[in-house]
Amino acid sequence: MSQIDCVVGARPNFMKIAPMLRALEGPRGVRTCLVHTGQHYDPGMSDVFFEQLGIRAPDVRLDVGSDTHARQTARILEHYEDHLSRTRPAGVVVVGDVNSTLACALAAVKLGIPVAHVEAGLRSRDRRMPEEINRVVTDAISDVLLVTEESGRRNLLGEGIEPSKIHMVGNLMIDTLYHELPRARELRLPERYGLGDGAYGLVTLHRPSNVDDPRVLAALVGLLGELSGTLPLVFPVHPRTRSRLETAGLLERLRAAPRLFLTEPLGYRENLALMAAAKLVLTDSGGMQEETTVLGVPCLTLRDTTERPITVELGTSILVGNDPIAIRAALSEVIEGRYRHPTPIPLWDGHAGARAAEALRAAWDLVHWNYVI
Ligand code: UD1
Repeated sequence: MSQIDCVVGARPNFMKIAPMLRALEGPRGVRTCLVHTGQHYDPGMSDVFFEQLGIRAPDVRLDVGSDTHARQTARILEHYEDHLSRTRPAGVVVVGDVNSTLACALAAVKLGIPVAHVEAGLRSRDRRMPEEINRVVTDAISDVLLVTEESGRRNLLGEGIEPSKIHMVGNLMIDTLYHELPRARELRLPERYGLGDGAYGLVTLHRPSNVDDPRVLAALVGLLGELSGTLPLVFPVHPRTRSRLETAGLLERLRAAPRLFLTEPLGYRENLALMAAAKLVLTDSGGMQEETTVLGVPCLTLRDTTERPITVELGTSILVGNDPIAIRAALSEVIEGRYRHPTPIPLWDGHAGARAAEALRAAWDLVHWNYVI
């Protein structure tokens, strides 16, 4: 009897794998092996998501940790190949666009094991983003491409991917959002900061393009201090950003702003609770552009491009880059109530996991396997 490997590595993977596991292991269940590469390892970046999202402990841990891109990717390749050679799963599911996604997909296809990619086809067309390289390569070698939005299908067809491999299933991360939103709201988190609903902004920053260059980072820090004079800001600080702020001597400057609340990275529910009740979100995260769109919260996206154009076309995302003038102008518009209310996105309905599992069952003929969990 064989099994399907489900791979996670970094924070944005966990909310996408939770509905996949639930759907695969449902009534007509298949056996799954949950593999954690260990790309993210801090309890606040990993364990808390397993607890809150009800994901079982990983069956296999590769414990690769942090390093340069090449070394981290190489370590995952080596460790995952060992696991694959021993266990020979019938298929591997990878999610998103992190280094773990690319490395595990590559290790699997090299051994002739088919790969399904959740969130396939997204393209920012910015090859300086490590995630863009991961997306392009993972899609080129995957057998089943599970797509969240129409641009994904168009991009894949444009890259010559066979139409039969492409399945429009919707957004698994949004399944998790709908699943967790009631519990998140119960936390009444804004009150903990002495803030009212709709009376603050939520900030997250971690992209190399915003945090790795000390001049860019210093300009953003100055701007956040200034904006917090208009609207109090809550800023959970990603470990990568914390280390860059410390190196550049900017952490104290941020701490000194009286209405800017710095916190450790938040759990899934805490972040969702703060997002849902915010006046606006300022972020360079991919996932938060999608989540704010569903929540109807304006999102000032601190990037020049997005691989998720539907969040700009139908949703609440406004691309402001890291240009202070554009950011100030967008903030004023939102505060004055001038922003577009979102249109529901097709198939972002809380049932994407079931459609993804159905697509896998059909593509990999799982219905004919004699699987019992
Ligand atoms: C990674 C993903 C990015 C994703 C982000 C979400 C890649 C190329 N990047 O970026 O797409 O949006 O995760 O968080 O895969 N660190 C810790 N503790 C941890 C993990 C990391 O302290 O648990 C620190 C280390 O100093 C590490 C740095 O953060 O070097 C960066 O971590 P890494 O996983 O390389 O990239 P992220 O910036 O987190």
